[in-house]
Amino acid sequence: MDKKNLINKIMALKKEHNAVIVAHNYQVDDVQELADVTGDSFALSKYCASTKYDVVVFCGVHFMAESAKILSPDKTVLLPEIDAGCPMANMVTAETLRKAKKEHPKAAVVCYINSSAEVKAESDICCTSSNALKVVKSLEQEEVLFVPDKNLGHYISKQLPEKKFIFWDGFCVTHHRVTPEQVIKAREAQPDAILLVHPECRPEVVEMADFVGSTRQIIQYANSSPHKKFIIGTEMGIMYQLRTENPDKEFYLLAQSFVCPNMKKTSLNSVYEALRDMKYKIELDEDIRLKAKTALDRMLAIE
Ligand code: 13P
Ligand code: SF4
Repeated sequence: MDKKNLINKIMALKKEHNAVIVAHNYQVDDVQELADVTGDSFALSKYCASTKYDVVVFCGVHFMAESAKILSPDKTVLLPEIDAGCPMANMVTAETLRKAKKEHPKAAVVCYINSSAEVKAESDICCTSSNALKVVKSLEQEEVLFVPDKNLGHYISKQLPEKKFIFWDGFCVTHHRVTPEQVIKAREAQPDAILLVHPECRPEVVEMADFVGSTRQIIQYANSSPHKKFIIGTEMGIMYQLRTENPDKEFYLLAQSFVCPNMKKTSLNSVYEALRDMKYKIELDEDIRLKAKTALDRMLAIE
């Protein structure tokens, strides 16, 4: 089927099922173009908590669709590619977290939204890369067990010296492999560009940046900046919106390896098949869902 035909069929199915298509900022260009809503993890979870549609087609990775289902149990939430997971989210399990909680009974458990529903259910509060500082700041406890991203945890801890952090040994493979040497090279190639990075990058890279933020915050920063050239330190899918919204500015990817294979699994065809066959439905155990929802609701109440 050609692209035009495929899009027409998707539009007809969307209408038939009263569905909305949401896409993360890392999705392939075609999917971002098709989506009704694009955003970072925080914006998309907030949107899914309030949307009136019956069906949400979540173009992203598993934990994102799961968060939408946690917040909107009465809606049908579809993940077009069921194998689109997040390796970092798999670096912590409910069982290993329960063990750590016993070792640190006084610590508040803050879990990055890049985690399973079971892990959220074991946590006091969730956070995303856009609100982690506010979330941790809001806690009464001095001790914080931060899971699973040690790089985001480290970035926040530098701004909150009054808190005692216990880091988890988790990280995003895509962000963590980028090195300070690559930053030096990129700056040499584009000396008048400024560097915008995601806090999932390793601390040595984050320290070299001019701005650190979530995918949405990076887009907002570039859109409103008077600068004309930017080196982008996050997954390459973000280039679509940066270039579409800023045709007069230049964007250079910090490293060609900035590709999340899981974010690249969803295509127009998988969105079509998802709506045609109503697959893959996210289902959750109600007890887990309610506990996970408490952690997400606490986060949403802070903003
Ligand atoms: P954002 O919340 O910044 O969109 O990040 C999600 C993510 O998975 C980054 O790798
Ligand atoms: Fe997970 Fe990293 Fe991919 Fe984000 S970029 S979804 S953290 S693997």
